[in-house]
Amino acid sequence: MLSTTRAVRKRLDFERPVPESVLRECIELAVQAPTASNMQTWHFVLVTERDNIEAIAGLYRRGFEAYVRGPTLADRTAGDGRSTGGRFVGGDRIWAAQQQRVIDSAVYLAENMHRSPVLLIPCVTTRSERPTDVVAEGGSVVQAAWSFMLAARERGLGTCWTTLHLAYEREAAEILELPYEKVRQFALIPVAYTIGTDFKPANRGGIEDVISWNRWSR
Ligand SMILES: Cc1cc2nc3c(=O)[nH]c(=O)nc-3n(C[C@H](O)[C@H](O)[C@H](O)COP(=O)(O)O)c2cc1C
Repeated sequence: MLSTTRAVRKRLDFERPVPESVLRECIELAVQAPTASNMQTWHFVLVTERDNIEAIAGLYRRGFEAYVRGPTLADRTAGDGRSTGGRFVGGDRIWAAQQQRVIDSAVYLAENMHRSPVLLIPCVTTRSERPTDVVAEGGSVVQAAWSFMLAARERGLGTCWTTLHLAYEREAAEILELPYEKVRQFALIPVAYTIGTDFKPANRGGIEDVISWNRWSR
C-alpha cells in the first residue's frame, strides 16, 4: 500500500457519499502519529456541507489559477537540478511525460474540487513564528495527515494533498469560522471513494541519487 498511495484526482468518485463513521476511523488512526513534545496540536476540519465545500474549492481554484500563471515550483527546481535540490535535470523524457500527466490531473482537480463529498483541512492549533517551532508543528500535523491518507486508502478512499488554497488562508478561516490567529491550516485534501482500486507505483528514479552515506555526496 505504501508504494501505491497516489495523489488521486481524476479517479475520485464525486457521486458516492463517504460515511462519517469511515472518516472517524481514519482520524482515530491519524491521531496515533507522533507529535513534537507529544503536544498533539493537531486539528482536522472535515468539510461536508456543500456551501462550504464550494467556497473552499473556489479559493483553491483561485490559488491554482495564480499558480498556473506564475513560475511553478517545477520551473524553479527543474532549471538546475543540482543547485536547487530538484532531481531531474532537463531533458528527461519519462519525467516530462509524468509531469504532463500531473498537470492534466491537477487541472482536472482544480475544475472539480467543488464536487468532492469531503474536504479535509489538517491544522495545527498554534501559529508560531520561530522557524524551529514552525518546522516542529508542520512535522506534527503532516505525519498524522499522511496516516489519515493511508487509512483512507485502506478503506477504498482516494486523497490528494494540496496547498494552493493557502494563498487565501485567511478567507478560508473565515468560511470555516476558524480562529486564524491561533490555528494554521496546512493543506486541503479532497476525500472520496476511488473509481477502481488498482493503483501502481510511480516512477521515482533510483534511490542512489537521493542517498548520502555519512557525508553529503551529491
Ligand atoms: C507539499 C505538497 C503540496 C502539494 N500541492 C498540490 C496542489 O496544490 N495541487 C495538486 O493537485 N497536487 C498537489 N500536491 C500533490 C503532488 O502533485 C503529488 O504528490 C505529486 O505529483 C506526486 O504524485 P503521486 O504521489 O501520485 O506520484 C502536493 C503535494 C505535496 C507533498
